[in-house]
Amino acid sequence: MKTIRRYEALLRSAFQGALLTAATAPGVFVLGCGHHAPGAATEAGTSDLDATAGTDSGLDDATVQDDGFPSVTDDSGLTGACAPIFMADAGPDASLMCTTYSMLPCGVPGAATRGPSCLYAFNICQHACDGLAFNCHPYGDACLDGSVAPGPFVMDCVTCPGAAGRRPRRLAPASFARGKSEAGDYFARVAHLEAASVHAFHQIETMLGERGAPASLCRAARRAARDETRHARAVSRLARRFGGVPAAAHVTRRRARESLASLAVENFVEGCVRETYGALVATWQAAHASDPGVAAAMTRIAKDETRHAALSWSIAAWAENQLSPAARRRVTARGTAAVSELLKATATPPLDVARIAGLPDRTTQIALLRALDRTLWSPAAA
Ligand SMILES: [Fe+2]
Ligand SMILES: [Fe+2]
Repeated sequence: MKTIRRYEALLRSAFQGALLTAATAPGVFVLGCGHHAPGAATEAGTSDLDATAGTDSGLDDATVQDDGFPSVTDDSGLTGACAPIFMADAGPDASLMCTTYSMLPCGVPGAATRGPSCLYAFNICQHACDGLAFNCHPYGDACLDGSVAPGPFVMDCVTCPGAAGRRPRRLAPASFARGKSEAGDYFARVAHLEAASVHAFHQIETMLGERGAPASLCRAARRAARDETRHARAVSRLARRFGGVPAAAHVTRRRARESLASLAVENFVEGCVRETYGALVATWQAAHASDPGVAAAMTRIAKDETRHAALSWSIAAWAENQLSPAARRRVTARGTAAVSELLKATATPPLDVARIAGLPDRTTQIALLRALDRTLWSPAAA
């Protein structure tokens, strides 16, 4: 088994390649030519990433452009009896980490959508969602073949771009007060995810200990929890500086010991896919944030997140040897689905947030994801 340091070096090298690829990507990014999905096949027997690229992600016609939406700032139609009803504590999905839901009694009268996922324009999302949303689309089968039937539906709002933080189990939903700026709201959400990550690494340390994992992995999980505490404080300071209101992260108590297969799935999804991508995005932000305080914080965070991602790959290698072939296939399938989720959540952030936080635009996010797919996820699933 490779050491965490060895994985860290591999990730740094993969990140350098991905950053170079993304920085030189043309403005319009073609997705689909020769694409090779991680895992090659899901449980349903088809490539989830390929399917997402072609259909569900909204990346229609294998081409991604950043500004294909009509302008609809003046009248969203979402007022009076048609005003959204925010479902902060009662959304259809129990995991509210990066998603909020709104019931729209009249739908979105007259607004055009784009792509097979029926993505709405950014400014519609700001009316339809509770707080800052990076993209929004109808939940479930309210979107059929790229169109939305008239009438009420539930809007699914993506509230954090990329994969900041690592989601723990049993995270309690948080409600966010609107701050004084979009940047403040963005940092408040990221601070919550960083605070949630502290719980995630405490949980991992416990699960590793119960399974007799090497002491080096348990130590690294403990250190990662300390890192995340620092990240939560640093990003909370940024949130307050920009007028945001960070919320605390709470988890409910666990009831039973988790199986190794369950630990392996969670580690691959949250660590090898989401936190690995989050570390790459943080590295991008460190280089692109226009605010010097943000750039300095992201430089430190990116370094730590890369080490956390390396820990996840080490845990994955340790667990893999003990899993049945069926459990390994499950890990692969869930990892592939997690990559698809990241693709679906790609969105160009509001201009101010992108500039201050150094966030990549949607085209760049897709380029970064594809690069990681090529160098990490596909080889891991082969
Ligand atoms: Fe973090
Ligand atoms: Fe982390």
